Amino acid sequence: MNTYQRIVLAARPQGEVTPHHFRLETVPVPDLAEGQLLIRNHYLSLDPYMRGRMNDARSYAAPQALGETMIGGTVGEVVASRHPSFAAGDFVAAMGGWAEMAVSDGTGLRRLDPAAVPLSAYLGVVGMPGMTAWYGLNRILETQAGQTVCVSAASGAVGSAVGQLAKLRGCRVVGIAGGPEKCGYVVRELGFDACVDYRAGNLRADLKAATPDGIDGIFENVGGEVFDAALARTNPFARVALCGMIAGYDGADIPMRNVRLLLANRITLRGFIVTEHLDDWPAGLAELGALVAAGQLKYRETVAQGLASAPDAFIGLLKGRNVGKQLVKLV
Ligand SMILES: NC(=O)c1ccc[n+]([C@@H]2O[C@H](COP(=O)([O-])OP(=O)(O)OC[C@H]3O[C@@H](n4cnc5c(N)ncnc54)[C@H](OP(=O)(O)O)[C@@H]3O)[C@@H](O)[C@H]2O)c1
Repeated sequence: MNTYQRIVLAARPQGEVTPHHFRLETVPVPDLAEGQLLIRNHYLSLDPYMRGRMNDARSYAAPQALGETMIGGTVGEVVASRHPSFAAGDFVAAMGGWAEMAVSDGTGLRRLDPAAVPLSAYLGVVGMPGMTAWYGLNRILETQAGQTVCVSAASGAVGSAVGQLAKLRGCRVVGIAGGPEKCGYVVRELGFDACVDYRAGNLRADLKAATPDGIDGIFENVGGEVFDAALARTNPFARVALCGMIAGYDGADIPMRNVRLLLANRITLRGFIVTEHLDDWPAGLAELGALVAAGQLKYRETVAQGLASAPDAFIGLLKGRNVGKQLVKLV
């Protein structure tokens, strides 16, 4: 019998995630029913939101079920089809989960052209993280040329796209990232105007020096001290796209002292979930794809090899070991 491997949620973490929260299983490849197709997943995307799903808590999405395949975005090739719109050999993006294969009824599949951009990029800069950057920048920050944008987790999948898109709009862009290597990459390769290393111990003073004209737009990915430091540099009527608060995902306290500035500086702050704005995706993805193809939007990937490496790579993502998009290569 044909089999494939998958990783299920074995236990819910209290605090930090460890490998014991996951279990690798070998399961049979199911027979396809009429209307279904079978996908061989080439890449799995690891994303911070998965940490939230591991909790049994009320949120904008249902928790990941115990004993079920971990949720996750994938790109892969259709290897068998009983679906009228898909044939073997088609490349698709799917929510295939932490698994080598996935069965789909076609719902939510996105057809991909691997000749346009590499397949893996459809999970990053031309996928959900890229759209997150596009949405927060275009629909929430709406910053104008000459204004200053600050983006945290600047070397990551979302942050790296935010900064480059803001530069294309003529903004001054200041990143915040962990460590000199990441900061160097952000400035030298991605073209940010400056990047502050929050691990260096002088976050507030360094951010002040990097933002002589203050901050007009904050694209917030981290929360806590990092967000607080950016708020301290806001100009009147600044805007905040509240995208993520990864510093608190493992249950750490992320206290903030500068909340009063939301009032004093008449700040507009909006949280958003990119998957609630699917109407914008076709236009946004087309723009992102064109920019990548033209070499105007760069990206990096951190690629773990083989499904069994996914738990460790995911833990690394939550600790900042990745640069750019964290992926797992499955074939
Ligand atoms: N709202 C939405 O719809 C949406 C969609 C996608 C992503 N997001 C959010 O966007 C953010 C970035 O996601 P991504 O996929 O692009 O991940 P990513 O930035 O590629 O990777 C996560 C990065 O976060 C930083 N980080 C981790 N723990 C941290 C901590 N305790 N304090 C400060 N920084 C920490 C690390 O970079 P450093 O080494 O630089 O610290 C790490 O590399 C996340 O908060 C995620 O939840 C939101």
